[in-house]
Order: sequence, then C-alpha cells, then structure tokens
Amino acid sequence: MINSKKAESDYPISNIIANRWSPVSFSAQAVEQEKINSLIEAARWAPSAFNEQPWQYIVGIKGDETHQKLVDTLAEGNDWAKDAPVLMCSVAKSFFDHKHKPNRHYMHDTGMATMNLVLQATELDLITHQMAGFDLEMIKKTFNLDEGFEPASMIAIGYAGDPKSDDMKTRDEAPRQRKNHSDLIWK
Ligand SMILES: Cc1cc2nc3c(=O)[nH]c(=O)nc-3n(C[C@H](O)[C@H](O)[C@H](O)COP(=O)(O)O)c2cc1C
Repeated sequence: MINSKKAESDYPISNIIANRWSPVSFSAQAVEQEKINSLIEAARWAPSAFNEQPWQYIVGIKGDETHQKLVDTLAEGNDWAKDAPVLMCSVAKSFFDHKHKPNRHYMHDTGMATMNLVLQATELDLITHQMAGFDLEMIKKTFNLDEGFEPASMIAIGYAGDPKSDDMKTRDEAPRQRKNHSDLIWK
C-alpha cells in the first residue's frame, strides 16, 4: 500500500497541499460519517463570487443506492473508482438567484469548494481522486438535475488500500508530474 506520494516542491508549501494526491487503490474500510460531515463542511466555507455558493454534492456511500447509481455513470477507464467507499459528484449551479443572471464563476467556485473538500480529506488521512470521466447526461437524468445545474466532477474518497492489479500498482507508483514553476508565470 502506498500511503504517501508527497510533492517534491521547489519551494516550501503546506504539508496538506504536498500530501494530497490521486491514487486509484482504495481500501474497503468505510469512511466515518463524522469525517464525511467535515468534508462537506470544508466545502461550505469556500469563497465564491457574490457569496453565491453555487455547489452541492451528490453523496453515495458504498452499499447505498446513490453509490451504485454513481458507479453506473463511471467511464470504463475509471472502473477502479467503484471500490471507493464514498463517491461524490459535485453539482454546480450556473445562474445567480438574483435576477436569474448567468454566473460565469460557477465552475471556478465549485472547483474551489471541492479543493477545500479534498484538502480536508487529506488532513483526515483520507485519499481522494477527482474524475471527469463519467456520463454527464446520465447524472442529470438519474438525479433529476434541473436546467442550469451541471455535474462538475466525480470524487472518489476513502482510505488507502492495496492495488488490485499490476496496472493499478504501476499507476500509483508512477512519479508525480508537474510543469516547471517558471511556466506558471505569464510571459
Ligand atoms: C477535474 C478533474 C478531472 C479528472 N479526471 C480524471 C479521470 O477521469 N480519471 C482519472 O483517473 N483521473 C482524473 N483526474 C486526476 C488527475 O489526472 C490528477 O489530479 C493529475 O494527474 C495530478 O495528479 P495528482 O492529483 O496525484 O497530483 C482528474 C482530476 C481533476 C481535477
């Protein structure tokens, strides 16, 4: 089991940021409800444009109907995520309640809330892995999303476990890749 793949940062960064990574090997160990509450609470305290807080989470716990419904939407390449004891799908609201105007920050803000959530998970010794590979239309249909509500990302959450295949082992052992620090400065 690989418990940590800490970022080898060029400059000092917070341990929580360095320790978060996206493994594919999850243990069957259930996640305590208090920890799930803390994850949603962390998302709750994210900043947002006009404090609109345009995010919500569909929460599936392994064994319940919602978890299975979320599993059914996963792309083939994300099959490993079916073993994660918690699956969440973030839902982003694309309009402001005030005058029903479009909110161009809705995905940005929902992403920030999810970053809060995954960093909180890291602090609670949980692993997380976000995914874009799932069927958006199926989510909308299955969970009755009204117009203007968009699935943003799927998040697998749980405790680190042993890889169930060589491919999973290879993925989890691969070095982490990043652009160079200087590439982030606009030229
Ligand atoms: C919005 C989003 C979508 C992603 N989609 C997938 C996905 O469908 N499948 C997958 O295995 N990983 C997915 N990832 C994980 C990224 O590949 C991963 O975050 C990236 O390679 C950096 O690795 P790290 O998270 O371990 O630092 C996604 C991450 C994000 C934030």
